[in-house]
Amino acid sequence: MPQEQDRMETIVSLAKQRGFIFQSSELYGGMAGVYDLGPLGIELANNIKKQWWQKIVQERDDVYGLDSQILMASKIWEASGHVKSFVEPLTECKSCHKRFRADHLQEEGVTQCPECNGELTEPRQFNGMLQTHVGVTQEDSDSVYLRPETAQGIFVNFDNVQKAMRAKVPFGIAQIGKAFRNEITFRNFIFRVREFEQMELEFFVKPGTDDEWFAYWRTFCMDFLINDIGLKKEHLHFRDHEKAELCFYSKATTDIEFEYPFGVKELWGIANRQAYDLTQHSTYSGQKLEYLDPATGEKYIPFVIEPSVGVSRLMLAALLNAYTVIEGGRSMTTSANKDAEVVLKFHPSIAPVKAAIFPLSKKEPLTQIAHDICATLRKQWVIQYDESGSIGRRYRRQDEIGTPLCITVDFESVEDNKVTVRHRDTMEQERVAIDELKLYIQEKLQNFSS
Ligand code: GAP
Repeated sequence: MPQEQDRMETIVSLAKQRGFIFQSSELYGGMAGVYDLGPLGIELANNIKKQWWQKIVQERDDVYGLDSQILMASKIWEASGHVKSFVEPLTECKSCHKRFRADHLQEEGVTQCPECNGELTEPRQFNGMLQTHVGVTQEDSDSVYLRPETAQGIFVNFDNVQKAMRAKVPFGIAQIGKAFRNEITFRNFIFRVREFEQMELEFFVKPGTDDEWFAYWRTFCMDFLINDIGLKKEHLHFRDHEKAELCFYSKATTDIEFEYPFGVKELWGIANRQAYDLTQHSTYSGQKLEYLDPATGEKYIPFVIEPSVGVSRLMLAALLNAYTVIEGGRSMTTSANKDAEVVLKFHPSIAPVKAAIFPLSKKEPLTQIAHDICATLRKQWVIQYDESGSIGRRYRRQDEIGTPLCITVDFESVEDNKVTVRHRDTMEQERVAIDELKLYIQEKLQNFSS
């Protein structure tokens, strides 16, 4: 799929040039599977996390937030099964000695080294958790793991949250946080990385109601991707895991898959983990993680439904989804320029910059008016000020980073206290009074038409 490969390469290069994503430690040759977020990348990531938090925690009265830490007691990972079972098959090329995930190569139908066509060794198992040490000296230090998922921090706090919030089943605990995995194959940019953020919800339910809740969260997650992140429906698919494919503790798992240029791949996993985790932590800690139903006096270990998604995987989907090429350019930009133009059509809720302000000239009083508008709007949104180049060129710069609205202060603005607002997708322009600008933007961002 050379065209798809080109699309991926274009996104990687645009992400770097426009300040979304940089290779970690690039100055020193780069570190595989680790990426830094640039000025626009951090805004995009923050907006995605904000949307998720708002829909999953803030707008509900049955989900509570949590921030458990990366470092946890090692026994937690024994109880969860990660020490024993978080293993992947590793194969090595006998000629170039590069290492690969045998299961990934198998999925792609690759039987020889993808780098040099060399012969591969028989797969051997390795654990995907990263380790570090805590303690003063090497001798008395303890080996601990960097968490490979945020979920366990939620399970071990089940009792704390339930009691502190007097939470009644069904209820959920949500958290956003870093996770680390010793991944070894990195061919798809930020799709699979060693250090990433997860957004995880553990929703505790009464056994017997789990199928219903599983169906509920499956639909909820799909709707969120379409309505709150703006992913196109036709690029998203549910994939129910076959029985043979399910983790041993899972009763049902569905992946929401996205059509990435390198294949249709898992974006968001939704699993019915039953009572596995709470039972394991009850056994290993010696403390029963049960729920006492205050209405019936019944005691039971709740089942859990877990929707879990990676921020970087969602960012990549959002970038690909937004990337639009307009062949021959758009008429409202510089008339002489007939090159293809790139527009990132982000849903306004996740667009890194919400509006840009352009004074038509670099002179007073236009610049002062533009600076004043900027200062006011910045109290609420991320706004860019740009006074260099033609207006057409300034529009193009903002289109390339997906800014929904551009505001021009012109000579008439001095007389009528109005500015021209131009819409990214429709390119429609409207004259708006400066003192109504805030409300206008608020309304437009909420009801954005593409
Ligand atoms: N607590 C369940 C859990 O961690 P998972 O399927 O291993 O399940 C959940 O991971 C989600 O986390 C995935 O659907 C994906 O979005 C993201 N994810 C997992 N590994 C990742 C990696 N190496 N790089 C980026 N995102 C990853």
